[in-house]
Amino acid sequence: MKHVRSDFPKGFQFGVATSSYQIEGHAFGGAGRTHWDDFAATPGNVVRAENGDRACDHYHRYAEDLDLIAAAGFDCYRFSTSWARVMPDGVTVNPDGLDFYDRLTDAMLERGLKPCATLYHWEMPSALADKGGWRNRDVAEWFADFTTTIMGRIGDRMHSVAPINEPWCVAFLSHFMGHHAPGLRDVRATARAMHHVLLAHGRAIQAMRALGMDNLGGVFNMEWASPSDDSDAARAAAARYDGLYNHWYMSGVFKKSYPQIVLDGIEAHLPDRWDEDFDVIGSPVDWCGINYYTRKVIAPVPGPWPGLEEVEGPLPKTFMDWEIFPQGLYNFLTRTAKEYTGSLPLFITENGMAAPDPLQDGAVPDADRIAYIEAHMDMVLRAIAEGVPVKGYFLWSLLDNYEWALGYEKRFGLVHVDFDTLERTPKASYHALKDALTSGSET
Ligand code: FCB
Repeated sequence: MKHVRSDFPKGFQFGVATSSYQIEGHAFGGAGRTHWDDFAATPGNVVRAENGDRACDHYHRYAEDLDLIAAAGFDCYRFSTSWARVMPDGVTVNPDGLDFYDRLTDAMLERGLKPCATLYHWEMPSALADKGGWRNRDVAEWFADFTTTIMGRIGDRMHSVAPINEPWCVAFLSHFMGHHAPGLRDVRATARAMHHVLLAHGRAIQAMRALGMDNLGGVFNMEWASPSDDSDAARAAAARYDGLYNHWYMSGVFKKSYPQIVLDGIEAHLPDRWDEDFDVIGSPVDWCGINYYTRKVIAPVPGPWPGLEEVEGPLPKTFMDWEIFPQGLYNFLTRTAKEYTGSLPLFITENGMAAPDPLQDGAVPDADRIAYIEAHMDMVLRAIAEGVPVKGYFLWSLLDNYEWALGYEKRFGLVHVDFDTLERTPKASYHALKDALTSGSET
């Protein structure tokens, strides 16, 4: 690895990220049905109709997995708590679910890992989806109840917490594009989800403050939008994409307003009195997380809002068909600090790439992933050198896992998982990071 720990400022945190449904094995421990189970059971939504029933069986193998994180020298583990494991019908508490996260938390602390929780990484209990899920304003109160329940149990030991992973995915990808659960394609449902996901974020922050917790943040995914050509129309389409993807959610949380370029398209579909909710949405947070993978090349198309499409770009691509564009991470770190967060600590809460990663004689020589990580670390260091307060970098992901609608084929792990035997094999990238983190002046 080109960089070592001592290239970063003292106290800079390195971590790995995962999420509950993608690794735990949702069939275990009394977890309730989720809208992802329903989505995956609907033909055509998920490759081979795969679901998270067994996943990586982390529910039973978490000790081995945490050993891997600690052995590589990571400081933090960003994990998520499944709403449907803790409250299978969205109301009743499953004691086994709370016990699991309690055990997991203590197991992190025993290994010297800082627990960094995300409350919601996409497994809405089906019973709440039946009531309209993210379309129903009550979701903010349901989510606040879940927050109080799970954090009432483990909140005393959390290093940091963010309520919701990637609000764009929760709202737009899932209600407008239909690519994730609940698989809707409806502009009105989308507008409501875009607002309610932020209201739920704010209520969860309030609920955790009421428990006396601190070091609370938000995790936003960002994709740089490049116009497909030099025309005004292409530039305007890219600006609309940038608005609905990158600006809407941060603007709500950090500016207590929504960007006009997005309101122009969806204001008519927002719930009544949406503009009275910003004191909740903008409840103060202590840090801001950015998940960054790629950029999109955007072209204008005729037709209704947002009047754009993604077109193929010229850059080398990962196994997800995502262009590799490290510059975008630098752009977002500098822009976020300048426009939204000022001196608030920034974290890269996800970054990484998928590859086919076959096992070769018991090893995975994933040189392309090492190069991807190095190129993105370059950008982190560049932003830091310019004074941007970046305080940590988390890799997606510890393990190969359930990559949502793309099933088990897209491998993002630093550790290879054989989905028949569930055997874990650290890849070359894991070993390279281990060397980088455990060598140098700070170790
Ligand atoms: C992010 C998600 C994560 C994973 C990666 C590849 O959008 O947070 O669960 O799917 O992409």
